[in-house]
Amino acid sequence: MMGWKAAGLGVLGVLPVLIMVIVINVAEGERLNKTSSSGGLFWSTAKEESDLMLKAEPDEDSSAASVVNDHDEVDGGFSSLDGMLQWAIGHSDPEKLKETAQDVQRLSPSELKKRQMEIKELMEKMKMPSDSQLMQIALDDLNNSSLSLEDHHRALQELLILVEPIDNANDLTKLGGLHVLIRELNHPDSDIRRVSAWVLGKASQNNAFVQKQVLELGALTKLMKMVKSTSIEESIKALYAVSALIRNNVGGQELFYAEAGDKMLQDILSNSSIDIRLQKKAVFLVADLAECQLENVGRAELPFFRNHFFLKSIVDLTASTDLDLQEKALVAIKNLLRLKTTEALVFKDLCGLDDALERMRLQLQDLLVEEYHRDFAMDTESLRREVELIFHSKLGKVMRVPT
Ligand SMILES: *[C@@H]1O[C@H](CO)[C@@H](O)[C@H](O)[C@H]1NC(C)=O
Ligand SMILES: *[C@@H]1O[C@H](CO)[C@@H](O)[C@H](O)[C@H]1NC(C)=O
Ligand SMILES: *[C@@H]1O[C@H](CO)[C@@H](O)[C@H](O)[C@H]1NC(C)=O
Repeated sequence: MMGWKAAGLGVLGVLPVLIMVIVINVAEGERLNKTSSSGGLFWSTAKEESDLMLKAEPDEDSSAASVVNDHDEVDGGFSSLDGMLQWAIGHSDPEKLKETAQDVQRLSPSELKKRQMEIKELMEKMKMPSDSQLMQIALDDLNNSSLSLEDHHRALQELLILVEPIDNANDLTKLGGLHVLIRELNHPDSDIRRVSAWVLGKASQNNAFVQKQVLELGALTKLMKMVKSTSIEESIKALYAVSALIRNNVGGQELFYAEAGDKMLQDILSNSSIDIRLQKKAVFLVADLAECQLENVGRAELPFFRNHFFLKSIVDLTASTDLDLQEKALVAIKNLLRLKTTEALVFKDLCGLDDALERMRLQLQDLLVEEYHRDFAMDTESLRREVELIFHSKLGKVMRVPT
């Protein structure tokens, strides 16, 4: 029930005890071998504080599911007493260590022995839990209806950090965490629903195993309903989770289309009063879905990809005042143009892609002279040119007069 925060504070709280352990070891070493200057201690490079301490609330990557999980993530807990000792040494004041060591040396062998036993007992009680144990604690809290909303919220924040390494995400499913999180999607508090969706998205990201479990538990339909929530923050996290669930997952995508996911995307993309963050996520997902279609050539292309209104709403986003949204729309257009069944003439006559590309070219030219925007402008211009080339080549094929 103490949760991660308390455990984190505990690390700092045990520091004085750890110093005692260190100096007792030093004293022991000197007793055994008077000539040794380093005592019986194994000095090793102290780990970076950032490896061991809690990260701040993680950023959700802005591009939905583009970030790869870090497989080398350090396990949050200390696996051994040795690890704790090494950590403590790295965080101790050398002067203080020396001073305490001198005090300890005045102890008689039997006093020292007694002290060691006491410390050993204390250390066992305070042993740092592993990530898996921390997740279990957070899940127990989340699953305990007699705890307060605040406790539930804290448990979710802890899970958000804990599920990031891929192994932890896999463990979460083994601990039965997905059931609990999916149940929380129905919580009366919008914030609880929002963070639960976020955790599910994070755990599913680039993780086919978790994706499969979450899909089998039927969470996609619920998350898609949440995208239509009146709370924009909830909507954004729900769409993030939907994207993470169906990315590179053909089964998930079929379910998504069966639940009218195409209409959901079109409603977001064509509504100019909708929050721009939601539009960015939606257009990024479109680019991703088209890309997945390109990689699965055997799969029949969906009519949705060549729907005029849908395509026009994406081309129209290139006129946005937000440069990031413009760029994301350009990527989506590129992938859509490369599909077999999209028609170049539709892009030209019904979507006004020629004009849109020319408008972007002029705008990027202006941006190029601004130091601050130069890199962005250069990258986007090269993307824009690529889109133009694909477009004109596709157009050339249909415009060619038969001989
Ligand atoms: C739920 O929390 C209450 C209050 O802290 C605690 O007494 C109880 O043991 C917990 N229940 C479970 C099943 O962990
Ligand atoms: C959550 O609590 C229910 C009983 O209230 C229990 O059946 C279930 O196993 C618990 N789940 C987890 C992950 O602890
Ligand atoms: C467009 O979005 C706004 C804000 O979310 C919403 O109130 C409105 O109903 C939407 N319009 C349509 C036609 O869906």
